[in-house]
Amino acid sequence: MSDLQAAAKKAVGEHVASMISSGMTLGIGTGSTAAKAVEALGRRIQQEGLQVQGVATSFAAERLARQHGVSLTTLDESPDLDLAFDGADEVDPYFTLIKGRGAAQTREKIVAARAKQFVVLVDESKMVDELGHRMPLPVEVVPMAVTPVMHVLRSLGAAPEIRMGMKKDGPVVSDQGMWVVDAMFDGITNPDHVNDVLLKTPGVVDHGLFIGMATQVLVGGADGGVQVLDKPRV
Ligand code: A5P
Repeated sequence: MSDLQAAAKKAVGEHVASMISSGMTLGIGTGSTAAKAVEALGRRIQQEGLQVQGVATSFAAERLARQHGVSLTTLDESPDLDLAFDGADEVDPYFTLIKGRGAAQTREKIVAARAKQFVVLVDESKMVDELGHRMPLPVEVVPMAVTPVMHVLRSLGAAPEIRMGMKKDGPVVSDQGMWVVDAMFDGITNPDHVNDVLLKTPGVVDHGLFIGMATQVLVGGADGGVQVLDKPRV
């Protein structure tokens, strides 16, 4: 990560932390940008005695929240969240997202769907005109269904690959014990169609397209400034 990207991530993290007030229930995203928000939130909890509770979107987010003094709850106890914050890999002009570089997209979507406000934190490099030219679409799959799901992805025009572990032999195993298939498209021209097909495919747990969920996008600039987008750009 460049220093400029790091400054942008810190700026959006601090901005979303400043939107939080005592008594709120939160969705706590996963990834390097959401981590900046957790750090900033932790500082506010320590310095101002802010009282909040959060639902973590991954084991990683859970550990980070604990480390920064953010109290945790669950969707069983707190099914209605005030605000969820999370990063994204790509954001298009309609606020449709690709998420899941960290394989947390299934829990991230469950949590975001329960939040009144879903605030997406990105730097300028993540804003694209059309999704799927640079980043693959992560699809979480029940292991026994991986080959049929890859056939379906090919029929949608994608080149699918099972995501492999870095410091582990074999496939990445998600927090739910599933595998992740990264599907590289030559641009996703119709996200609704891809979403419909995938959600009708047995063995697909969920995927990284987030359609109509983001309520606000905070775009961090290289100068540490933050652009607040309240509505899709089109
Ligand atoms: C986690 O699985 C992802 O959805 C991340 O939220 C997304 O990849 C953005 O991550 P960074 O903030 O690290 O770029």
